[in-house]
Amino acid sequence: MTNTSNQVESAQQDHPSIPSLSDVLPSFRLDGHVTIVTGGSGGLAHTLVQALLAQGSEVALLDLSVERLEYTARELQEFIKANKLPKLNVSTWPCDIGDAAIVDEVVRAIPLKHNGIVPDKLVHTAGYCQNTPALDYDARQAELLVRVNLMGSMYICQSMSRLLMQRSQRRRSVSSEDDSAAEACPQLSNVSYVLIGSMSGCIVNNPQPQVAYNMAKAGVIHMVKSLACEWARYGIRVNSISPGYIATALTKKVISGSPEGAALQQEWTSRVPMGRMADPREFVGAMLYLLSSSASSYTTGENLVIDGGYTCW
Ligand SMILES: NC(=O)c1ccc[n+]([C@@H]2O[C@H](COP(=O)([O-])OP(=O)(O)OC[C@H]3O[C@@H](n4cnc5c(N)ncnc54)[C@H](O)[C@@H]3O)[C@@H](O)[C@H]2O)c1
Repeated sequence: MTNTSNQVESAQQDHPSIPSLSDVLPSFRLDGHVTIVTGGSGGLAHTLVQALLAQGSEVALLDLSVERLEYTARELQEFIKANKLPKLNVSTWPCDIGDAAIVDEVVRAIPLKHNGIVPDKLVHTAGYCQNTPALDYDARQAELLVRVNLMGSMYICQSMSRLLMQRSQRRRSVSSEDDSAAEACPQLSNVSYVLIGSMSGCIVNNPQPQVAYNMAKAGVIHMVKSLACEWARYGIRVNSISPGYIATALTKKVISGSPEGAALQQEWTSRVPMGRMADPREFVGAMLYLLSSSASSYTTGENLVIDGGYTCW
């Protein structure tokens, strides 16, 4: 792939040279990469991980329950076999994303199960929602939700970046005669983090009250912009995808968890210009775009709202 400055130069020439197809068409392949997927046993992750494997990425799945992770991994091996994909390593890691020390420990251990490859792609889906009126919200419950949904988003990005930078500095100081130069500014490539935010970070859902979730997701969107600015100089891109209502375990629990569930679903879809909830497959394209170093090489700090038009009304 020709680098971006060369492309700009050739576009400016009077007689531009004929580009090759790989100069024109981006690649969405992820061969040789390890992608960390948090919330790896969740409904949205279920589909996103299948797409990652189909694009050749190994995956490290982080979630709370060992049993659910093991079940997910077995299911994914079936998926690989049924679709005749090449053998790909799927590792599983019980991990509370709201615990910074555990997240760091897990991220450092992942290369040991992936032939030493340091993960440089992230799909962060871990999170949960609570529908509680603000006046009744127990402080500890709200703090816990913010710790998992917001702080967890920062912990996973920090741990990955620290490890990538340490490895890059070590490589440079081994190959460089001048150690002080090697310590200057680690330059990484192809590093991309995709965090699942929510349209709840941009609007207030109605009618269900969910103040802690809404503020945590608004925080995720702005954290993404902050990290994108801090880490652009290292070659790390950070973006978010903010979905509208998706038909997954999270929303099915809300719908079936109360007698008013069906009416609530009706209320939700009536507020979506496209008149329906999303299918998890409808987020695969955005994820692959943001992970691809050729398709989204100039995209960072972006929040892609994919909501069937909900936030337009
Ligand atoms: N489903 C929707 O309508 C919808 C809409 C907008 C945004 N989102 C967001 O998308 C993401 C995925 O949602 P989903 O619908 O797949 O939900 P899900 O409940 O199916 O999956 C979420 C996963 O996160 C895991 N998780 C929760 N707390 C964790 C913790 N402390 N540490 C590690 N893992 C933890 C859960 O065990 C679960 O497997 C979430 O961040 C959610 O907020 C969902």
